[in-house]
Amino acid sequence: MKLVLLAVQAVILLFFLGTREVKSGKCPRFCMCDSVQLTVACVKKNLTEIPPTIDEITVKLDLRGNYIQELPTGAFKHTPYLTHLSLQRTGIHKVREGAFRSLGRLVFLNLAYNDIDILYQESFDGLSSLKQLIIDHNRIEEIQPGAFAQLGFLTLLSVTHNQLVYIPNMAFQGLQSIKWLRLSHNALNYIDIEAFAGLFTLTRLSLDNNELQFFPTETMTRLTEVTRLDLSYNPMTYLGEEVVSMAKLTHLFLDHNSLQDFSSAAVLLSPKLTHLDLGYNQLRVLQPLALGSPKLTRLNLAGNPIYCSCYLRPLREWSIQERVRLGGTCSGPPHLSDESLDAVQPPDLRCQSQEAMLKFEQEERSRLPPPPTTPPGEKAKCPDNCVCETENHHASCEKQGHTKIPRGFSPDIRLLDLHDNHFHYIASNSFPGLPEVVSLHLQRCKIHEVESGAFSGMKGLIYLYLSENELTSLSPDAFKGLPQLTYLHLEKNRFKQFPKGAFTLLPGLLALHLENNAITKLEKGILTAAEKLRSLFLTKNDITDIAPGAFSPGYDLDKLDLSNNKLKEVPTSALPKTNSLKELDLSHNPIRWIGAEAFLPVATSLKHLYLNNMTLEKMSKDSLAGLGSGLQSLLLEGNQLEDVPDLSPLTGLEVINLAGNPLLCDCPLLPLRNWLEKVNLKVRARCGYPPELQGQWVKDIHGFKSCPGQGPPPSQKPKISKAPKSSKPRSTPTKPRRVIKTIQTKPSRDAKSHLGKKPSAKKHKSV
Ligand SMILES: *[C@@H]1O[C@H](CO)[C@@H](O)[C@H](O)[C@H]1NC(C)=O
Ligand SMILES: *[C@@H]1O[C@H](CO)[C@@H](O)[C@H](O)[C@H]1NC(C)=O
Repeated sequence: MKLVLLAVQAVILLFFLGTREVKSGKCPRFCMCDSVQLTVACVKKNLTEIPPTIDEITVKLDLRGNYIQELPTGAFKHTPYLTHLSLQRTGIHKVREGAFRSLGRLVFLNLAYNDIDILYQESFDGLSSLKQLIIDHNRIEEIQPGAFAQLGFLTLLSVTHNQLVYIPNMAFQGLQSIKWLRLSHNALNYIDIEAFAGLFTLTRLSLDNNELQFFPTETMTRLTEVTRLDLSYNPMTYLGEEVVSMAKLTHLFLDHNSLQDFSSAAVLLSPKLTHLDLGYNQLRVLQPLALGSPKLTRLNLAGNPIYCSCYLRPLREWSIQERVRLGGTCSGPPHLSDESLDAVQPPDLRCQSQEAMLKFEQEERSRLPPPPTTPPGEKAKCPDNCVCETENHHASCEKQGHTKIPRGFSPDIRLLDLHDNHFHYIASNSFPGLPEVVSLHLQRCKIHEVESGAFSGMKGLIYLYLSENELTSLSPDAFKGLPQLTYLHLEKNRFKQFPKGAFTLLPGLLALHLENNAITKLEKGILTAAEKLRSLFLTKNDITDIAPGAFSPGYDLDKLDLSNNKLKEVPTSALPKTNSLKELDLSHNPIRWIGAEAFLPVATSLKHLYLNNMTLEKMSKDSLAGLGSGLQSLLLEGNQLEDVPDLSPLTGLEVINLAGNPLLCDCPLLPLRNWLEKVNLKVRARCGYPPELQGQWVKDIHGFKSCPGQGPPPSQKPKISKAPKSSKPRSTPTKPRRVIKTIQTKPSRDAKSHLGKKPSAKKHKSV
């Protein structure tokens, strides 16, 4: 026994030793770091900011119980590999736009027990892999449209114990994979008709512990996939005929309401219902339920003052016949008190005397069901086939088959949603008298033309969504009269050319989305007037050519996404010569070599460089010239590199990925090998050659010691000089000496690469 105990203790001790292992230098003060599990925990340490020195390879970060208060833009940019982030009880009251940008791998985010009151439009920008988002126990009163727009993989959203009173239309737009939405413990008294629009995958909705007085029929009917709906603990008093019309609903919880009446046809239009919980209401009697199809197996009536008289007999007979189990007990008459409803037999349900019956009927009549009233949020000026919400200044006319832009909106609306109609073109002056609209949605409206001055007068417009239309070009005056326009979405159209003239009238433009078009080339000066532009998205076009100066002046351009195009070289001469570009994405272009000084124009500002999955075979040793301590991420995975340039000047590097490259693990790679030893970075670099080393981590190869000037004398038989078993002639060395030859036999590639000096060959000659 003692021995066992001892063994257990030893195991526990080992476990703690294991988890406490601290990675040298990289574990912030006050934190516990586990370099095996890649977790960092800084719990209840009164930290007032995110520790800046967290190891970038961290995958789980636990910051519970601190006092961080505000999450600034890019708060986690140094830890791009996080999958789990816990921020409960950290006093956060504000999450800045883009706070989580860069956390593209995060799957779980917990923000419970903070002081957040508003979820802003871009609060959760960048969390493109997030699956669970918990924001329980905050003070949220408002969810701005688009707050969740980027969370396409979210399956669980939990916003319980907050102060929501109202859910506006489109509040959850963008949650394309959502399964369970928890809005319990708020103060909801009204849910707009399209509040849950777009949630085509939602199966479970929790609305318990709110202030709903009516079953929100129209809103719920739109939730075609929901199977479980929890409306427990709301103050509903009455459910009328056919109010629950939900095609796939199986479980409906209406317990702990104040129901005095429940129409026998209330759930008639929910044919899949199996469980109905009406427990803890004020029902004295219930008629047999009319069911669309008899699937119901369980009806709970516990905690109701059910009077087991002849009036209950029809229900009891029905439950026997339909095999519906009844939960609950009789509250009277005295001889049946506390008798289980499932145990009483119909003949026992009698109205003993005329007197008792009359008394019962009188009682029945004294509690008239309250008349159904119309929901709050009265309709103001609103065109046909539109829904206007005065309280929130929203107007929506989406998916109504409109062929003309509707007229007659109230002049104070701020969000106008017209997506999925059939406008085909937008005529001049289509939105008169709408100076307050901030966000205009025109996605998927088959638009192929926008006439001059189409939006004139929309002085307040900031967001314009024209995505997924059929635009091939834009008139130079298309955006006349939009002085504030900041975000313009033109992705998924049919542009073959960059619609450059159109932006001359948009001096405030910050972000331009042109991804998924068919643009083939970029000419000089496309950004001439868009002087404030910060982000330009051109991924997934057909760009082959970029003229010198194309991105000039680009004073403020800080993000340029050219990924997934057909570029064959780095567009060095096109890059802006300003000090602003921070992120350049060239991934997924067929660029096979990179010459010297390819990034020199932007070298001082660049922080993130994406060169992954490009079929890249060769990089000049000077290809990264100029890049220094400012570069934070360099992605090179999925290429054909056998060697990489010297990375030692990149002293600020936090992320480097070399995975999927067939690195040639021999003397030419020595600088990389030595660098790997020195830096405290997780570098995914494996050998591709020679065959006997294939798949091994570069860092683990000690054969490098055989290279001249390194480790043991050459006389010692180095591991690497074993004769290859299989052979890949051009690069399988048998001895270091052969490497020289191998490299020299690749003149064609070197010549192509503008190297001139043939640095690698030269290096070997000096060996
Ligand atoms: C955090 O602050 C509280 C109150 O100021 C103090 O009681 C507590 O000891 C502090 N905790 C740490 C770990 O410093
Ligand atoms: C990019 O390269 C990595 C590493 O080889 C690979 O795992 C990934 O699948 C590639 N991505 C695409 C889209 O080809």
